[in-house]
Amino acid sequence: MENKAKGFSYVKTPYNYISYFKDGSWTEGVLREEDTLTIAATSTSLHYGQQAFEGLKAYRRKDGDINLFRVIDNAKRFQTSCERMMMPKVPLDIFIEAVKKTVLANHEFVPPYGTGATLYIRPFMIGVGNNLGLRPAPEYIFSVIVSPVEKYFEGPAKPVDMITSEIDRAAPFGTGHVKVGGNYAASLYAQVEARKKGFADTIFLDPKTHTKIEEVGAANFFAITKQKAYITPKSPSILNSITNRSLRYIARHMLNLDVEETDIFIDKLDHIDEAGACGTAAIVTPIGTIEHLGHIHKFKCHKEMGPVTKQLLDIITGIQVGDINDPSNWITVLKPNE
Ligand code: PLP
Ligand code: COI
Repeated sequence: MENKAKGFSYVKTPYNYISYFKDGSWTEGVLREEDTLTIAATSTSLHYGQQAFEGLKAYRRKDGDINLFRVIDNAKRFQTSCERMMMPKVPLDIFIEAVKKTVLANHEFVPPYGTGATLYIRPFMIGVGNNLGLRPAPEYIFSVIVSPVEKYFEGPAKPVDMITSEIDRAAPFGTGHVKVGGNYAASLYAQVEARKKGFADTIFLDPKTHTKIEEVGAANFFAITKQKAYITPKSPSILNSITNRSLRYIARHMLNLDVEETDIFIDKLDHIDEAGACGTAAIVTPIGTIEHLGHIHKFKCHKEMGPVTKQLLDIITGIQVGDINDPSNWITVLKPNE
């Protein structure tokens, strides 16, 4: 079986994890080889989007062992997403065990240290079982699939160009803060339009006033101001990014920067030197320009990654692969050869 990453596409891996929820309890999770599902055609996940997912990565260390990054935080966010979707919560220890088991079973697919490639881990839950009216599903499947991946955004570490969208991915007090498929389905139209025009992704604006930067289609937005503060939007409809939380910690405690969650108005960007997208898939991707209503704003660092963005990228990836000491119990080490 070919175990090399191919961009950010699914490469079949030997095992995935599956557990079923029926009559109020979860079955013992098992690893299986088949990577397809047979479910009722009337499943709520198919008709009403009753589902949730997570995204995290396993990183190869220099010594050959494997690091998971902040898995407990993904487990907690998954519970929040499932609760919002009226789905049963997976106990935190079961979620973590499922991730560990799946990664260890596929350890040969964790790409080598130093390549920048990683094993992407996608836990998800779907509502299944026969149902027609709008109501929570009678049964659920919790599964974890993995795939080796490379960069999410194409090209070298050069700043990418983005464009704002006139449509929204989420409602002001809808489901934007949780990781559920509906947000992504709603964002696809804008993403495809942006890509057709040559942009890397969409910048969504706040759904209430359309005046403030909200987030990127598949990542949070952050910026470094002229005064060297780390700023990032605050809004109830943004996904609570674990990468962004980590960058805020690094900026505050390791780089001594001011950190602020604040409004970032799309027509007032002159106080920003460096802009970027951050997330598990995006890692830290510099943004060079944003087009909004026909006007292109160029950030000061639009040709090369800015110096603070570079420091943030180096530190977070250093922590993730184990080259820099874990500052706050973020790392879980897995030993494939024991
Ligand atoms: N925002 C959106 C819409 C995302 O899809 C992601 C990716 O998970 C993020 C933000 C970043 O979140 P995290 O850093 O937890 O991966
Ligand atoms: C992630 O970064 O984990 C995401 O979910 C982004 C995804 C849309 C590829």
